[in-house]
Amino acid sequence: MASSSKQKWLFACVTLLTIFITGACGIDIFLEWNVAIDSTIKPVSVDQPVITINGMFPGPLINSTTNDFVHVNVFNNLDEPLLFTWNGIQQRLNSWQDGVSGTNCPILPGTNWTYVFQVKDQIGSYSYFPSINFQKAGGGFGPIRVNNRIVIAVPFPKPEAEFDLLIGDWFSNDYKETRIIMDTSLTADDAVPDVMLMNGKGPHGHQMSKTYESFTVTKGKTYRFRISNVGSVFSFNFRIQNHKMVLVETEGSYTNQITLDSLDVHVGQSYSVLVTADQDDADYYMVASPKWFNTYDSSSLVGVGVLHYSNSNSQVSGPLPSGPDPFDVEFSMNQAKSVRWNLTTGAARPNPQGTFNVTNVTLSQNFLLQGSKGEINGKRRYVVNNVSYLTVDTPLKLADQFVNGSGVYQLDWFPTNSVNTEAEYGVSVSTGIHKGWIELVFINKLDVIDCWHLDGFGFHVVGFGNGDWTPESRTTYNLFDPVVRSTVQVYPGGWTAVYAFLDNPGMWNLRSQSLKNWYLGQELYIRVHNDDPNPAKERPPPGNLLLCGIFGDSDAPGSEPAPASWTGL
Ligand SMILES: *[C@@H]1O[C@H](CO)[C@@H](O)[C@H](O)[C@H]1NC(C)=O
Ligand SMILES: *[C@@H]1O[C@H](CO)[C@@H](O)[C@H](O)[C@H]1NC(C)=O
Ligand SMILES: *[C@@H]1O[C@H](CO)[C@@H](O)[C@H](O)[C@H]1NC(C)=O
Ligand SMILES: *[C@@H]1O[C@H](CO)[C@@H](O)[C@H](O)[C@H]1NC(C)=O
Ligand SMILES: *[C@@H]1O[C@H](CO)[C@@H](O)[C@H](O)[C@H]1NC(C)=O
Ligand SMILES: *[C@@H]1O[C@H](CO)[C@@H](O)[C@H](O)[C@H]1NC(C)=O
Ligand SMILES: *[C@@H]1O[C@H](CO)[C@@H](O)[C@H](O)[C@H]1NC(C)=O
Repeated sequence: MASSSKQKWLFACVTLLTIFITGACGIDIFLEWNVAIDSTIKPVSVDQPVITINGMFPGPLINSTTNDFVHVNVFNNLDEPLLFTWNGIQQRLNSWQDGVSGTNCPILPGTNWTYVFQVKDQIGSYSYFPSINFQKAGGGFGPIRVNNRIVIAVPFPKPEAEFDLLIGDWFSNDYKETRIIMDTSLTADDAVPDVMLMNGKGPHGHQMSKTYESFTVTKGKTYRFRISNVGSVFSFNFRIQNHKMVLVETEGSYTNQITLDSLDVHVGQSYSVLVTADQDDADYYMVASPKWFNTYDSSSLVGVGVLHYSNSNSQVSGPLPSGPDPFDVEFSMNQAKSVRWNLTTGAARPNPQGTFNVTNVTLSQNFLLQGSKGEINGKRRYVVNNVSYLTVDTPLKLADQFVNGSGVYQLDWFPTNSVNTEAEYGVSVSTGIHKGWIELVFINKLDVIDCWHLDGFGFHVVGFGNGDWTPESRTTYNLFDPVVRSTVQVYPGGWTAVYAFLDNPGMWNLRSQSLKNWYLGQELYIRVHNDDPNPAKERPPPGNLLLCGIFGDSDAPGSEPAPASWTGL
């Protein structure tokens, strides 16, 4: 079924192609990933298991172009179930490929499963990572690029080269140990990472580091750095000694180009900056220091890499370039507000980004989502509106498809506008009105920065504020040129407001990107349903659909095949 509808799709593409010769159709990209544990990689000078892909840490680049079809055949050679999610890839009409616990059965150890998804109508910089079992803290993450089709101009001159720069905090023990601490300890949330890695390498000059990350540039040339925060806990401030950065893109949106001394990147976010090698031939520090945390230059939690000029004969020297006070919310929030959508440039489509704007939209829903900590049955949990998400064995998407949710989740049980007076577990699934605009207000009652992400859609980031959100806060929104992105930070004691247009039917994960918050319950699902059964509206389950939970275990030896009425295959 999946393949025949794809053939139709391709046929439609070919027809379009011959009519417009625009190159609107993607190509197929086939990837084979062997996911395994490697204890010899040693990002820092201790023995620890690291999740590698084809022996690599970080994992390989997925280098795609708008509308390409990406096939990733994942061989799980870990000793536990695995899923990958494609952070920011919208999986149009196809939440079957989203790779979170609510959409997919995990890939069991010793088995393989092939994701097939189209990077439809998107451009930009993203990352992928394992989505279950706290595995992201063990590695398995990597960069995704979606390049412009050649017919659509990029709004800046072609850089000399592009570099992927994945930066993130890292625990120097076994991720399974950290996971146990998270699960059992009442103070689990106090677990602090040990080191900041750049592309899997420790800080330059630090005794813990075997090696450090370095980029070679030629004086006079301009480079694009695609920076992602792949960490678990910390936002960071990124800067390069003596160099300015021009911000050009974030998670699929071209921004108004602004020149920065430093850039805050929060967990799960991606940015592109242009850096011109306009200084003397020498080596320069690249620094990523944690936000909302007191540290010092020689701490292993300050990531340090090197920008190396090809004709440089000197080593990096001097103090590290200083950044803003890590606790300065005003700096960070003002920078966030200055990240605006370039309304006049085309992105995935030739028409300007600004033709799809929120200047005058009518909202059909409003969710107020308050993130905090709670205690349930003597365990520390993270909650949204005092509900900690309970991960169930049956993916919600399967339950939705085959039994209308029955026995797995109760639709709209979750309080979307109020806070439970008792902290409790729940399988939170809320209706999102198909083709309606939703306003999501994230309220952060934690004393650290939180970061929220919705699969399936872009956030139009309309407002940030301190203190309580009230309906009057709407008068401060930027409805003119809010940037569109997939992940947004929420400052401690503050709020962030976004709009999303729910034109993508499916079961969509809304989560904290902060790994421990996510793992300990800051998560829910938005079910966007279109009654129209036409598979051109929402894709049917893929031919290789895995079953699990109440539908049986398609991989378990001797298991009953699922009744045809369930699978519809
Ligand atoms: C990525 O793909 C683009 C378009 O096909 C190509 O120009 C570029 O060289 C590729 N980059 C890498 C690093 O493979
Ligand atoms: C597993 O890998 C084999 C060999 O590459 C492939 O033919 C098969 O389709 C894969 N299975 C799934 C479920 O993707
Ligand atoms: C917006 O993009 C256009 C190209 O479409 C570019 O010429 C212009 O400089 C950009 N505007 C800003 C403020 O960056
Ligand atoms: C927003 O979109 C509307 C409708 O397409 C258009 O009339 C308006 O000019 C756009 N606003 C901006 C700021 O581009
Ligand atoms: C925007 O909405 C206002 C009412 O709030 C209306 O008067 C105006 O005509 C609308 N403009 C456009 C371009 O739709
Ligand atoms: C599916 O469940 C919802 C409630 O969750 C109910 O309103 C709807 O009528 C059910 N649909 C069918 C076809 O049973
Ligand atoms: C959340 O639940 C706890 C009890 O479990 C309660 O003490 C707390 O007041 C609740 N939070 C809110 C904001 O009502």
